Amino acid sequence: MIVALVGLPGAGKTRIGRELADRLGFAFLDTDQMMQERLGAPAAELYELLGEAGFRDEETKTLREALSGRDRVVSTGGGTVLRPDNRRLLRGVRVLGLTARDPHLLSRLRGGRGRPVLAPNPADRLQVLRRDRLPLYEEVAEAWFWTESAPTRSVERIVDFLALRRLAGGVYFGRGARRFVGSFSGFGGSLLLTQPALADGWARSLLETLRYGERQATLEVVPDGEAAKDLRVYEGLLRRMAALGMTRDETVVAVGGGAVTDLGGFLAASYMRGVPLVLVPTTVVGQADAALGGKTGINLPEGKNLVGAFYPARATLVDPDTLRTLPLSQFRDGLAEVVKCGIGLDAELFAACVAWRRPPAGPGLDFALERAARAKLQLVAADPRESGERAKLNLGHTAGHAVEAASGYQISHGGAVAIGLSAVVRLAERRYAFGQAREVLGLLDRLGLPTHYEGDPDALWDYLVHDKKHGSQGFRLVVPRRLGACELVRVDEEEMRELAVLACTPVG
Ligand SMILES: NC(=O)c1ccc[n+]([C@@H]2O[C@H](COP(=O)([O-])OP(=O)(O)OC[C@H]3O[C@@H](n4cnc5c(N)ncnc54)[C@H](O)[C@@H]3O)[C@@H](O)[C@H]2O)c1
Ligand SMILES: [Zn+2]
Repeated sequence: MIVALVGLPGAGKTRIGRELADRLGFAFLDTDQMMQERLGAPAAELYELLGEAGFRDEETKTLREALSGRDRVVSTGGGTVLRPDNRRLLRGVRVLGLTARDPHLLSRLRGGRGRPVLAPNPADRLQVLRRDRLPLYEEVAEAWFWTESAPTRSVERIVDFLALRRLAGGVYFGRGARRFVGSFSGFGGSLLLTQPALADGWARSLLETLRYGERQATLEVVPDGEAAKDLRVYEGLLRRMAALGMTRDETVVAVGGGAVTDLGGFLAASYMRGVPLVLVPTTVVGQADAALGGKTGINLPEGKNLVGAFYPARATLVDPDTLRTLPLSQFRDGLAEVVKCGIGLDAELFAACVAWRRPPAGPGLDFALERAARAKLQLVAADPRESGERAKLNLGHTAGHAVEAASGYQISHGGAVAIGLSAVVRLAERRYAFGQAREVLGLLDRLGLPTHYEGDPDALWDYLVHDKKHGSQGFRLVVPRRLGACELVRVDEEEMRELAVLACTPVG
């Protein structure tokens, strides 16, 4: 891994870089120092000697060399980002931004002595540099770290950050991931949306992180569950943002289950035509599904998720620690989505689920969540706007949605998906030579998930006919072919009716 540090003079790139390299057991390279060694004069002198253009040419050469090895920490000169070529070079490595407020920078720079770029008035120059360079640093930096406390503390934080698993651009997984919200919320303020159950817990603990530096953060608690995904709630929040004077530089941070990440995502997508979005999903459904993949939306009285947008989050921090407070029923329901990914997309994940004797915790849970998230992200990458492959995520959802609706939403989404999975694996056993239906049914049962709907198949049928997956050329259904593999097939009415009957038939 190559880690490059960028930031204004005095932000601590050399000091922190050296200690970080030590901690990671990496080599440390400082581009200014490399130039000095090669050309025989300190950067400041070279700058005068070669003129700005000549100096920058040398800098590019040096940067290319610095970034060409492996396992190193590279401290870059403050002006490195000015050149498009350099920014391109930086794109291939993990770039972290270091920052601090001006008084901290100035005191570290000892008033600017020996830094021609800060002459004649360091305080004024720093402001100019901040204004001109910040957008360029932002373009290349993956995340930001405030370095106002002791260097060792900044190093610890960076080490913890690098230990997170990066599942895809902007999606980080790991215990403690939530603590890095402030590293992604930019330099403006933020609006932190959350649900009542989290307002005094997880969400409040993140407010301080978001307020670090000179940034403002406002906490907004939205109604619980689906009531949040409502036009009036949405309007209220838009107006709140306008009243707070929020601009495009400010961030929406949504902390909670799928309801609040869907709402927060749509808010961020639409306020001023789009502001940065950071998600911290706190339910199994959120971590394995809802907060991944860029779909956002709210409901209309006419139906669920009828208004929305595809809008990628700048960062999604998936932190299994936050599931600790989740009620068991919610937790278990969410596992239905994880099991779904195992059946349809990832045989190794399914094998891990089958080994559970009770709902998982600790590393077993982390493994399953990470695999499920990866499986979804892979499909999303292949099909960002949901025109083909991504439909595989609907395994179990055809009958599932019908059960959810027919029960008047008395049966939870996860419970309904479990019933849908139970129905579709039995159908696949009969019609598609799927040989592992019994294993799936046994697992659902052990997890305490329902495997059939106590209701009338005809009622389910009505909902199946109305399901949006019912295209003009008949029905489409995702069926498992073997563990870890599924496909979207066309089915006729008779087969669909059979699915409805199976959903209402106890497992024999
Ligand atoms: N955008 C997508 O791709 C996508 C995918 C799947 C689902 N969804 C949406 O997600 C929503 C369902 O998500 P959900 O199941 O997370 O429901 P939810 O957001 O309603 O959360 C469920 C409940 O758990 C509480 N809660 C959340 N985190 C908690 C925690 N850590 N501790 C204690 N309580 C906590 C919430 O307050 C709520 O009462 C639906 O609106 C669905 O449409 C979206
Ligand atoms: Zn689902």
